[in-house]
Amino acid sequence: MTTGRDGFPGYPRLDPPPRGVRVYGGHVGISLTRVDLSGADDRAALTAFLTSNTFPFHVRVRPTVAQVENDIRAGSWDGDDVETFWIDDERDGRVGVIRLEDLQDATVTVDLRLADGARGRGFGSAALSAATHLVFSHHRGVIRFEGQTRDDNVAMRRVFERCGWVLEAHYRDGWPVEGGDPLASVAYSVLRRDWASGSTTPVPRGPEVTLRGELRCADAAEAQRVRAHLAEHIALTRAEPGCLSFDVDPTDTDGVWSVSERFVDEAAFDAHQRRVAASTWGRETAGIQRFYVIHGRALDADALIATAWAAEETLLHPAVRSNPRELNRLLDPEFVEVGQSGRRWTRDGIVAALGDEPGTDSSPLVEERESRLVGPDTVLLTYLLRFENRVSRRSSLWRCDPTPRCLFHQGTPVD
Ligand SMILES: CC(C)(COP(=O)(O)OP(=O)(O)OC[C@H]1O[C@@H](n2cnc3c(N)ncnc32)[C@H](O)[C@@H]1OP(=O)(O)O)[C@@H](O)C(=O)NCCC(=O)NCCS
Repeated sequence: MTTGRDGFPGYPRLDPPPRGVRVYGGHVGISLTRVDLSGADDRAALTAFLTSNTFPFHVRVRPTVAQVENDIRAGSWDGDDVETFWIDDERDGRVGVIRLEDLQDATVTVDLRLADGARGRGFGSAALSAATHLVFSHHRGVIRFEGQTRDDNVAMRRVFERCGWVLEAHYRDGWPVEGGDPLASVAYSVLRRDWASGSTTPVPRGPEVTLRGELRCADAAEAQRVRAHLAEHIALTRAEPGCLSFDVDPTDTDGVWSVSERFVDEAAFDAHQRRVAASTWGRETAGIQRFYVIHGRALDADALIATAWAAEETLLHPAVRSNPRELNRLLDPEFVEVGQSGRRWTRDGIVAALGDEPGTDSSPLVEERESRLVGPDTVLLTYLLRFENRVSRRSSLWRCDPTPRCLFHQGTPVD
Protein backbone atom coordinates (compact mmCIF):
# COMPACT_ATOMS: atom_id res chain seq x y z
CA MET A 1 0.00 0.00 0.00
CA THR A 2 1.25 3.47 -0.81
CA THR A 3 0.68 6.56 1.25
CA GLY A 4 -1.09 9.74 0.12
CA ARG A 5 0.10 13.32 0.43
CA ASP A 6 -0.43 13.68 4.15
CA GLY A 7 0.42 10.17 5.13
CA PHE A 8 -3.14 8.86 5.04
CA PRO A 9 -3.54 5.33 3.79
CA GLY A 10 -4.38 5.76 0.13
CA TYR A 11 -3.43 5.01 -3.41
CA PRO A 12 -0.67 6.02 -5.78
CA ARG A 13 -1.36 9.72 -6.14
CA LEU A 14 -2.36 9.66 -9.80
CA ASP A 15 -4.76 6.72 -9.59
CA PRO A 16 -8.43 7.49 -9.24
CA PRO A 17 -9.76 6.18 -5.95
CA PRO A 18 -11.55 2.86 -6.63
CA ARG A 19 -15.14 2.27 -5.66
CA GLY A 20 -16.22 0.78 -2.38
CA VAL A 21 -12.96 1.33 -0.53
CA ARG A 22 -12.13 3.80 2.19
CA VAL A 23 -9.62 6.16 0.65
CA TYR A 24 -9.01 9.16 2.71
CA GLY A 25 -9.14 10.65 6.13
CA GLY A 26 -8.46 14.41 6.06
CA HIS A 27 -9.70 15.21 9.55
CA VAL A 28 -9.54 13.40 12.84
CA GLY A 29 -12.38 10.92 12.80
CA ILE A 30 -13.62 11.63 9.26
CA SER A 31 -13.02 9.45 6.22
CA LEU A 32 -14.39 9.40 2.68
CA THR A 33 -15.39 6.13 1.09
CA ARG A 34 -16.18 5.88 -2.61
CA VAL A 35 -19.85 5.06 -3.19
CA ASP A 36 -20.15 1.92 -5.34
CA LEU A 37 -23.25 2.29 -7.48
CA SER A 38 -22.52 -0.87 -9.44
CA GLY A 39 -23.77 -2.78 -6.37
CA ALA A 40 -27.34 -2.89 -5.07
CA ASP A 41 -26.32 -2.06 -1.48
CA ASP A 42 -24.87 1.37 -2.19
CA ARG A 43 -27.63 2.15 -4.68
CA ALA A 44 -30.24 1.45 -2.02
CA ALA A 45 -28.27 3.24 0.68
CA LEU A 46 -27.80 6.37 -1.44
CA THR A 47 -31.47 6.38 -2.39
CA ALA A 48 -32.45 6.03 1.26
CA PHE A 49 -30.09 8.81 2.31
CA LEU A 50 -31.32 11.27 -0.31
CA THR A 51 -35.01 10.56 0.24
CA SER A 52 -35.03 10.46 4.04
CA ASN A 53 -33.29 13.81 4.65
CA THR A 54 -34.32 17.30 3.62
CA PHE A 55 -32.11 19.66 1.67
CA PRO A 56 -33.75 23.05 2.09
CA PHE A 57 -31.22 24.89 -0.03
CA HIS A 58 -31.19 22.47 -2.96
CA VAL A 59 -33.44 22.79 -5.97
CA ARG A 60 -35.08 19.51 -4.94
CA VAL A 61 -35.69 19.83 -1.22
CA ARG A 62 -36.81 16.22 -0.75
CA PRO A 63 -36.25 14.12 -3.85
CA THR A 64 -38.47 11.12 -4.48
CA VAL A 65 -37.21 7.56 -4.85
CA ALA A 66 -38.08 7.62 -8.56
CA GLN A 67 -36.14 10.86 -9.08
CA VAL A 68 -33.06 9.53 -7.30
CA GLU A 69 -33.12 6.21 -9.15
CA ASN A 70 -33.47 8.08 -12.40
CA ASP A 71 -30.50 10.32 -11.54
CA ILE A 72 -28.40 7.30 -10.59
CA ARG A 73 -29.21 5.63 -13.90
CA ALA A 74 -28.39 8.87 -15.75
CA GLY A 75 -24.90 8.88 -14.20
CA SER A 76 -25.47 11.94 -12.00
CA TRP A 77 -23.83 10.26 -8.98
CA ASP A 78 -21.14 8.15 -10.59
CA GLY A 79 -19.59 8.15 -14.03
CA ASP A 80 -16.58 9.19 -16.08
CA ASP A 81 -16.41 12.58 -14.46
CA VAL A 82 -18.48 12.15 -11.28
CA GLU A 83 -17.52 10.42 -8.04
CA THR A 84 -19.53 10.29 -4.83
CA PHE A 85 -18.16 9.49 -1.38
CA TRP A 86 -19.77 8.52 1.88
CA ILE A 87 -18.71 10.76 4.75
CA ASP A 88 -18.03 8.50 7.73
CA ASP A 89 -17.26 9.59 11.25
CA GLU A 90 -15.44 7.11 13.43
CA ARG A 91 -17.91 7.69 16.29
CA ASP A 92 -21.19 8.62 14.58
CA GLY A 93 -20.86 6.40 11.54
CA ARG A 94 -22.24 7.50 8.15
CA VAL A 95 -23.07 11.20 8.35
CA GLY A 96 -23.46 12.30 4.72
CA VAL A 97 -22.32 12.25 1.11
CA ILE A 98 -20.08 14.44 -0.95
CA ARG A 99 -20.25 14.41 -4.72
CA LEU A 100 -17.45 15.61 -7.03
CA GLU A 101 -18.46 16.61 -10.55
CA ASP A 102 -16.55 17.59 -13.71
CA LEU A 103 -13.54 15.54 -12.65
CA GLN A 104 -12.24 15.49 -16.23
CA ASP A 105 -12.09 19.29 -16.29
CA ALA A 106 -9.61 21.72 -14.78
CA THR A 107 -12.35 22.89 -12.41
CA VAL A 108 -14.10 20.28 -10.26
CA THR A 109 -17.34 21.16 -8.48
CA VAL A 110 -18.69 19.93 -5.16
CA ASP A 111 -22.09 19.04 -3.72
CA LEU A 112 -22.02 18.35 0.03
CA ARG A 113 -24.98 16.95 2.00
CA LEU A 114 -25.09 15.91 5.63
CA ALA A 115 -27.89 13.90 7.21
CA ASP A 116 -30.40 16.08 9.10
CA GLY A 117 -29.12 14.84 12.47
CA ALA A 118 -25.46 15.37 11.59
CA ARG A 119 -25.71 19.08 10.84
CA GLY A 120 -24.37 21.78 13.09
CA ARG A 121 -21.49 19.71 14.46
CA GLY A 122 -18.58 20.63 12.23
CA PHE A 123 -18.78 17.62 9.90
CA GLY A 124 -19.34 19.90 6.89
CA SER A 125 -15.94 21.60 7.23
CA ALA A 126 -14.18 18.31 7.97
CA ALA A 127 -15.69 16.65 4.89
CA LEU A 128 -14.93 19.57 2.56
CA SER A 129 -11.37 19.75 3.78
CA ALA A 130 -10.91 15.99 3.25
CA ALA A 131 -12.44 16.25 -0.23
CA THR A 132 -10.14 19.14 -1.13
CA HIS A 133 -7.10 17.00 -0.28
CA LEU A 134 -8.58 14.09 -2.19
CA VAL A 135 -9.26 16.10 -5.34
CA PHE A 136 -5.85 17.74 -5.53
CA SER A 137 -3.98 14.58 -4.51
CA HIS A 138 -5.69 12.20 -6.92
CA HIS A 139 -6.51 14.37 -9.92
CA ARG A 140 -3.39 16.00 -11.32
CA GLY A 141 -5.18 17.98 -14.01
CA VAL A 142 -7.45 19.82 -11.59
CA ILE A 143 -6.40 23.38 -10.86
CA ARG A 144 -9.55 24.71 -9.17
CA PHE A 145 -12.12 23.15 -6.85
CA GLU A 146 -15.37 25.11 -6.85
CA GLY A 147 -18.74 25.09 -5.13
CA GLN A 148 -21.96 27.02 -5.59
CA THR A 149 -24.65 27.42 -3.01
CA ARG A 150 -27.66 29.55 -2.38
CA ASP A 151 -26.81 33.04 -1.17
CA ASP A 152 -28.73 32.48 2.10
CA ASN A 153 -27.16 29.09 2.92
CA VAL A 154 -25.15 30.58 5.78
CA ALA A 155 -23.88 27.23 7.09
CA MET A 156 -22.46 26.18 3.71
CA ARG A 157 -20.91 29.58 3.10
CA ARG A 158 -19.29 29.40 6.50
CA VAL A 159 -17.99 25.90 5.69
CA PHE A 160 -16.37 27.23 2.49
CA GLU A 161 -14.80 30.10 4.40
CA ARG A 162 -13.55 27.89 7.24
CA CYS A 163 -11.83 25.69 4.68
CA GLY A 164 -10.03 28.71 3.14
CA TRP A 165 -12.18 28.87 0.01
CA VAL A 166 -12.60 32.29 -1.55
CA LEU A 167 -15.84 33.96 -2.63
CA GLU A 168 -15.57 34.50 -6.38
CA ALA A 169 -19.01 35.29 -7.70
CA HIS A 170 -22.54 36.37 -6.86
CA TYR A 171 -25.21 35.31 -9.35
CA ARG A 172 -28.42 37.31 -9.17
CA ASP A 173 -31.50 35.08 -9.62
CA GLY A 174 -29.00 32.28 -10.20
CA TRP A 175 -30.63 29.53 -8.10
CA PRO A 176 -33.95 27.99 -9.19
CA VAL A 177 -36.43 27.44 -6.35
CA GLU A 178 -39.18 24.81 -6.59
CA GLY A 179 -42.49 26.67 -6.80
CA GLY A 180 -40.93 30.08 -6.16
CA ASP A 181 -38.91 32.90 -7.64
CA PRO A 182 -35.23 32.20 -8.26
CA LEU A 183 -32.83 33.38 -5.59
CA ALA A 184 -29.25 34.58 -5.73
CA SER A 185 -26.39 32.11 -5.51
CA VAL A 186 -22.71 32.44 -4.71
CA ALA A 187 -19.59 30.63 -5.90
CA TYR A 188 -16.51 29.83 -3.82
CA SER A 189 -13.33 28.09 -4.87
CA VAL A 190 -9.88 27.00 -3.80
CA LEU A 191 -6.92 26.92 -6.19
CA ARG A 192 -4.48 24.04 -6.38
CA ARG A 193 -1.57 26.45 -6.02
CA ASP A 194 -3.07 27.97 -2.86
CA TRP A 195 -3.78 24.50 -1.45
CA ALA A 196 -0.18 23.47 -2.18
CA SER A 197 1.39 26.58 -0.68
CA GLY A 198 -1.05 27.09 2.17
CA SER A 199 -1.79 30.63 0.97
CA THR A 200 -4.87 32.45 -0.32
CA THR A 201 -4.97 34.43 -3.54
CA PRO A 202 -7.39 37.35 -3.16
CA VAL A 203 -10.04 37.95 -5.80
CA PRO A 204 -9.94 41.45 -7.21
CA ARG A 205 -13.04 43.26 -5.99
CA GLY A 206 -13.30 46.63 -7.65
CA PRO A 207 -12.57 47.63 -11.21
CA GLU A 208 -8.97 47.44 -12.32
CA VAL A 209 -7.10 50.72 -11.86
CA THR A 210 -4.92 51.84 -14.73
CA LEU A 211 -2.54 54.75 -14.90
CA ARG A 212 -0.97 56.03 -18.07
CA GLY A 213 1.08 59.10 -18.70
CA GLU A 214 4.52 60.60 -18.56
CA LEU A 215 7.23 61.53 -16.13
CA ARG A 216 8.93 64.69 -17.34
CA CYS A 217 12.25 65.86 -15.96
CA ALA A 218 13.02 69.57 -16.06
CA ASP A 219 16.80 69.13 -16.21
CA ALA A 220 19.68 66.65 -16.31
CA ALA A 221 19.86 66.41 -12.51
CA GLU A 222 16.26 65.21 -12.30
CA ALA A 223 16.82 62.73 -15.13
CA GLN A 224 19.90 61.41 -13.34
CA ARG A 225 17.85 60.79 -10.17
CA VAL A 226 15.27 58.86 -12.21
CA ARG A 227 17.98 56.70 -13.81
CA ALA A 228 19.60 56.01 -10.44
CA HIS A 229 16.45 54.70 -8.74
CA LEU A 230 14.16 53.49 -11.53
CA ALA A 231 15.25 49.82 -11.68
CA GLU A 232 14.65 49.32 -7.97
CA HIS A 233 11.32 51.17 -8.16
CA ILE A 234 10.12 48.90 -10.98
CA ALA A 235 11.24 45.71 -9.21
CA LEU A 236 9.58 46.68 -5.91
CA THR A 237 6.34 47.70 -7.62
CA ARG A 238 6.10 44.53 -9.72
CA ALA A 239 6.54 42.53 -6.50
CA GLU A 240 3.44 44.15 -4.92
CA PRO A 241 0.64 41.58 -4.70
CA GLY A 242 -1.93 43.85 -6.37
CA CYS A 243 0.28 44.93 -9.30
CA LEU A 244 -0.76 43.49 -12.66
CA SER A 245 1.79 45.33 -14.77
CA PHE A 246 4.18 48.22 -14.33
CA ASP A 247 6.26 49.73 -17.14
CA VAL A 248 8.35 52.88 -17.21
CA ASP A 249 10.17 53.33 -20.52
CA PRO A 250 12.31 56.11 -21.98
CA THR A 251 10.72 58.08 -24.83
CA ASP A 252 12.54 59.69 -27.73
CA THR A 253 12.62 62.93 -25.73
CA ASP A 254 15.52 63.08 -23.31
CA GLY A 255 14.34 63.17 -19.71
CA VAL A 256 10.79 62.02 -20.50
CA TRP A 257 9.61 58.52 -19.56
CA SER A 258 6.29 56.93 -20.46
CA VAL A 259 4.50 55.29 -17.54
CA SER A 260 1.88 52.53 -17.70
CA GLU A 261 0.51 50.82 -14.59
CA ARG A 262 -2.29 48.34 -13.83
CA PHE A 263 -3.46 47.32 -10.38
CA VAL A 264 -6.12 44.77 -9.44
CA ASP A 265 -8.27 47.37 -7.70
CA GLU A 266 -8.32 50.74 -6.00
CA ALA A 267 -7.11 49.35 -2.66
CA ALA A 268 -4.05 47.84 -4.35
CA PHE A 269 -3.39 51.09 -6.20
CA ASP A 270 -3.68 53.13 -3.00
CA ALA A 271 -1.38 50.70 -1.17
CA HIS A 272 1.15 51.21 -3.98
CA GLN A 273 0.89 55.00 -3.65
CA ARG A 274 1.50 54.79 0.10
CA ARG A 275 4.50 52.51 -0.32
CA VAL A 276 5.98 54.76 -3.01
CA ALA A 277 5.50 57.94 -0.95
CA ALA A 278 7.66 56.46 1.81
CA SER A 279 10.26 54.93 -0.55
CA THR A 280 13.64 56.18 -1.79
CA TRP A 281 12.12 56.61 -5.25
CA GLY A 282 9.27 58.66 -3.77
CA ARG A 283 11.66 60.97 -1.93
CA GLU A 284 14.19 61.34 -4.76
CA THR A 285 11.63 62.08 -7.49
CA ALA A 286 9.04 64.00 -5.47
CA GLY A 287 9.44 67.29 -7.35
CA ILE A 288 9.49 65.85 -10.87
CA GLN A 289 6.53 66.72 -13.06
CA ARG A 290 4.04 63.96 -13.84
CA PHE A 291 1.20 63.89 -16.33
CA TYR A 292 -0.95 60.98 -15.33
CA VAL A 293 -4.44 59.85 -16.24
CA ILE A 294 -5.97 57.33 -13.86
CA HIS A 295 -8.99 55.16 -14.65
CA GLY A 296 -11.08 52.99 -12.32
CA ARG A 297 -10.65 55.23 -9.33
CA ALA A 298 -13.04 57.50 -7.49
CA LEU A 299 -10.64 60.40 -7.99
CA ASP A 300 -10.73 60.21 -11.80
CA ALA A 301 -12.23 63.66 -12.24
CA ASP A 302 -9.82 65.36 -9.83
CA ALA A 303 -6.85 63.61 -11.37
CA LEU A 304 -7.89 64.58 -14.91
CA ILE A 305 -8.40 68.20 -13.93
CA ALA A 306 -5.04 68.36 -12.12
CA THR A 307 -3.38 66.87 -15.20
CA ALA A 308 -5.01 69.43 -17.48
CA TRP A 309 -3.91 72.36 -15.29
CA ALA A 310 -0.34 71.04 -15.15
CA ALA A 311 -0.28 70.75 -18.94
CA GLU A 312 -1.80 74.23 -19.42
CA GLU A 313 0.85 75.83 -17.22
CA THR A 314 3.58 73.91 -19.01
CA LEU A 315 2.34 75.45 -22.28
CA LEU A 316 2.83 78.93 -20.86
CA HIS A 317 6.50 78.36 -20.21
CA PRO A 318 8.81 80.11 -22.78
CA ALA A 319 11.15 77.09 -22.94
CA VAL A 320 8.23 74.92 -24.00
CA ARG A 321 6.69 77.51 -26.32
CA SER A 322 9.94 77.71 -28.30
CA ASN A 323 10.28 73.93 -28.58
CA PRO A 324 8.29 72.48 -31.55
CA ARG A 325 8.68 68.89 -30.32
CA GLU A 326 7.19 69.79 -26.92
CA LEU A 327 4.40 71.79 -28.55
CA ASN A 328 3.55 68.94 -30.89
CA ARG A 329 3.41 66.62 -27.90
CA LEU A 330 1.00 68.88 -25.98
CA LEU A 331 -1.17 70.14 -28.85
CA ASP A 332 -3.56 67.77 -30.61
CA PRO A 333 -2.94 67.37 -34.38
CA GLU A 334 -6.41 68.93 -34.90
CA PHE A 335 -5.66 71.76 -32.45
CA VAL A 336 -7.30 75.13 -33.17
CA GLU A 337 -6.65 78.43 -31.43
CA VAL A 338 -8.64 81.63 -31.77
CA GLY A 339 -6.10 84.28 -30.84
CA GLN A 340 -6.58 87.62 -29.10
CA SER A 341 -6.94 89.40 -32.46
CA GLY A 342 -9.60 86.96 -33.59
CA ARG A 343 -7.21 85.13 -35.88
CA ARG A 344 -7.69 81.36 -36.24
CA TRP A 345 -4.58 79.22 -35.86
CA THR A 346 -3.87 75.56 -36.60
CA ARG A 347 -1.26 73.54 -34.72
CA ASP A 348 1.41 74.00 -37.40
CA GLY A 349 0.68 77.72 -37.58
CA ILE A 350 0.92 78.28 -33.86
CA VAL A 351 4.05 76.14 -33.52
CA ALA A 352 5.76 78.23 -36.20
CA ALA A 353 4.57 81.54 -34.70
CA LEU A 354 5.65 80.60 -31.17
CA GLY A 355 9.02 79.45 -32.48
CA ASP A 356 9.61 83.03 -33.69
CA GLU A 357 8.13 84.69 -30.60
CA PRO A 358 7.93 82.42 -27.57
CA GLY A 359 7.76 85.33 -25.12
CA THR A 360 10.07 85.93 -22.17
CA ASP A 361 7.72 85.99 -19.19
CA SER A 362 8.66 82.89 -17.21
CA SER A 363 6.25 83.53 -14.34
CA PRO A 364 2.81 84.11 -15.85
CA LEU A 365 -0.01 84.61 -13.35
CA VAL A 366 -3.03 82.33 -13.67
CA GLU A 367 -6.06 83.59 -11.71
CA GLU A 368 -9.79 82.93 -11.43
CA ARG A 369 -9.30 79.30 -12.32
CA GLU A 370 -12.37 77.29 -13.23
CA SER A 371 -12.44 73.75 -14.52
CA ARG A 372 -15.08 71.30 -15.60
CA LEU A 373 -15.07 67.70 -16.78
CA VAL A 374 -16.97 67.76 -20.10
CA GLY A 375 -16.37 64.14 -21.17
CA PRO A 376 -14.89 60.94 -19.75
CA ASP A 377 -11.38 62.21 -20.46
CA THR A 378 -11.93 65.83 -21.49
CA VAL A 379 -11.58 68.93 -19.32
CA LEU A 380 -12.52 72.56 -19.95
CA LEU A 381 -10.29 75.14 -18.23
CA THR A 382 -11.03 78.86 -18.04
CA TYR A 383 -8.89 81.50 -16.30
CA LEU A 384 -7.57 85.02 -16.25
CA LEU A 385 -3.98 85.28 -17.45
CA ARG A 386 -1.43 88.01 -16.71
CA PHE A 387 1.35 87.35 -19.17
CA GLU A 388 3.87 89.60 -20.93
CA ASN A 389 2.22 92.68 -19.37
CA ARG A 390 -1.11 91.77 -20.91
CA VAL A 391 -4.29 90.56 -19.32
CA SER A 392 -6.61 88.14 -21.12
CA ARG A 393 -9.35 85.62 -20.45
CA ARG A 394 -8.41 82.16 -21.63
CA SER A 395 -10.22 78.93 -22.23
CA SER A 396 -8.68 75.57 -23.15
CA LEU A 397 -10.13 72.19 -23.92
CA TRP A 398 -7.86 69.26 -22.96
CA ARG A 399 -8.24 65.60 -23.79
CA CYS A 400 -6.20 63.79 -21.16
CA ASP A 401 -5.99 60.15 -22.27
CA PRO A 402 -3.39 58.78 -22.50
CA THR A 403 -1.43 62.02 -22.19
CA PRO A 404 -2.86 65.54 -22.14
CA ARG A 405 -3.42 67.12 -25.54
CA CYS A 406 -4.99 70.50 -26.03
CA LEU A 407 -7.84 70.47 -28.58
CA PHE A 408 -8.84 74.11 -28.54
CA HIS A 409 -7.68 77.39 -27.01
CA GLN A 410 -9.12 80.89 -27.09
CA GLY A 411 -7.79 84.11 -25.62
CA THR A 412 -9.76 87.39 -25.36
CA PRO A 413 -8.01 90.56 -24.19
CA VAL A 414 -9.29 92.32 -21.07
CA ASP A 415 -9.20 96.12 -21.33
C1 LIG B 1 -24.46 23.05 4.63
C2 LIG B 1 -23.85 21.97 5.49
C3 LIG B 1 -22.94 21.08 4.64
C4 LIG B 1 -23.02 22.66 6.58
O1 LIG B 1 -22.32 21.73 7.34
P1 LIG B 1 -22.43 21.74 8.93
O2 LIG B 1 -21.37 20.88 9.48
O3 LIG B 1 -23.85 21.40 9.29
O4 LIG B 1 -22.16 23.23 9.26
P2 LIG B 1 -22.48 23.93 10.64
O5 LIG B 1 -23.93 23.86 10.96
O6 LIG B 1 -21.52 23.39 11.63
O7 LIG B 1 -22.21 25.44 10.29
C5 LIG B 1 -20.96 25.93 9.90
C6 LIG B 1 -20.81 27.29 10.53
O8 LIG B 1 -21.88 28.13 10.08
C7 LIG B 1 -22.54 28.69 11.22
N1 LIG B 1 -23.95 28.80 10.90
C8 LIG B 1 -24.79 27.82 10.53
N2 LIG B 1 -26.01 28.35 10.33
C9 LIG B 1 -25.95 29.65 10.60
C10 LIG B 1 -26.86 30.73 10.58
N3 LIG B 1 -28.12 30.54 10.21
N4 LIG B 1 -26.41 31.95 10.91
C11 LIG B 1 -25.14 32.16 11.25
N5 LIG B 1 -24.20 31.19 11.28
C12 LIG B 1 -24.62 29.95 10.97
C13 LIG B 1 -22.29 27.70 12.33
O9 LIG B 1 -22.41 28.34 13.59
C14 LIG B 1 -20.89 27.27 12.05
O10 LIG B 1 -20.03 28.29 12.53
P3 LIG B 1 -18.53 27.98 12.98
O11 LIG B 1 -17.84 27.50 11.74
O12 LIG B 1 -18.03 29.28 13.49
O13 LIG B 1 -18.66 26.90 14.02
C15 LIG B 1 -24.94 21.08 6.16
O14 LIG B 1 -25.69 21.86 7.02
C16 LIG B 1 -25.84 20.42 5.15
O15 LIG B 1 -25.55 19.33 4.69
N6 LIG B 1 -26.95 21.09 4.79
C17 LIG B 1 -27.90 20.55 3.82
C18 LIG B 1 -27.30 20.42 2.43
C19 LIG B 1 -26.72 21.71 1.93
O16 LIG B 1 -27.31 22.79 2.06
N7 LIG B 1 -25.55 21.60 1.29
C20 LIG B 1 -24.86 22.71 0.66
C21 LIG B 1 -25.04 22.67 -0.81
S1 LIG B 1 -23.51 22.73 -1.67
